[in-house]
Amino acid sequence: MTRKKIIYTALFWFALVAIVVLGFTAYTYFQIKDYLNSSTSFVVVFVGIIVTLALGIAIAGITAFVVVMNKDKEEVKEEKKMATVIYGSEVAKELKNEMTMEIAKRMDEGKKIPTLCVILVGNNPASVSYVTGKEKACKEVGLGSKMIHLDENTTQAELLKVIDDCNKDNEIDGILVQLPLPSHLNEKEVVWAINPEKDVDGLHPINVGKLHLGEDGFVPCTPQGIIELLKRMNVELKGKRAVVIGRSNLVGNPVARLLMNENATVTICHSKTENIQAVCKEADILVVAIGKAKFVTKDFVKEGAYVIDVGVNRNEEGKLVGDVDFDDVVEHVTAITPVPKGVGPMTITMLLKNTIEACKRREG
Ligand code: GUN
Repeated sequence: MTRKKIIYTALFWFALVAIVVLGFTAYTYFQIKDYLNSSTSFVVVFVGIIVTLALGIAIAGITAFVVVMNKDKEEVKEEKKMATVIYGSEVAKELKNEMTMEIAKRMDEGKKIPTLCVILVGNNPASVSYVTGKEKACKEVGLGSKMIHLDENTTQAELLKVIDDCNKDNEIDGILVQLPLPSHLNEKEVVWAINPEKDVDGLHPINVGKLHLGEDGFVPCTPQGIIELLKRMNVELKGKRAVVIGRSNLVGNPVARLLMNENATVTICHSKTENIQAVCKEADILVVAIGKAKFVTKDFVKEGAYVIDVGVNRNEEGKLVGDVDFDDVVEHVTAITPVPKGVGPMTITMLLKNTIEACKRREG
């Protein structure tokens, strides 16, 4: 409600009270005027005017006060409504539709169907679920997919041989080795064995180097998905303060670099960061990839920030929750990604995009 409306409301109540009290005074005056002399008449009129003014001002004041209090409540309600929930699942759907059309066109033109090979060692339930999701997504858009599921006890040499075969296989455009690997395997050696031109995960040192040099390589899928989401939301990154919690090779480090490439001023926080809440509170864009359920509360968040939650944790009831305490934070931010249906669907979608890109680059 505007200031003008508040004044009009107060005036309305003042006028109403004035009419009622003055009317009552006039009525009383005419009823008793024969018994009054000039000085008592003056007292009656004077008292009537004073009562009118006092009551009118009091009621108008109370009205204005009530209106202002309600106005504050309305504004709080509006602020609560304001936060946008960024559904990566919706953006992923759009991107997948675009890719489906692209693959269909390639088929019509008799071109190669881009094919992704996913290698899974062991039966880590989360990894099995992620790999199944990747296979399903390939099918949805019409990409070729090959799943190689190796025994938990696969040796380093056996795994390297499988990767070498995939590197040489012309049918395969993209290779992803699902991480983490069982502890007896050397993850670094495995990732480094993948042909960088098929490294659709963007984890090979050649691709990591290219990202840091601003060259065209493959960028890890989750960070790429995050930037895509922010761009689709038209979030201005140039000159903004971005804080990333987490410094992993899969998310924290590459997303920080991508944000810097977009001219944001970037800080990375990690387990040794002092006064982490104060650092995060400066962020216009806060990316959280720390792997701790509901770690980020409203005390970490600047009013009006954009919050990207990369965490996927299970709470005591087995429900998926992010690294951000969504309910605590949502009223204080401009936009926030939920868990699930936030960043997760974008990761798989970027993997499909990278596989198509790998195929095109290999075609020359
Ligand atoms: N495990 C969890 N996320 C990922 C990912 O993006 N790539 C690979 N290779 N393993 C993962």
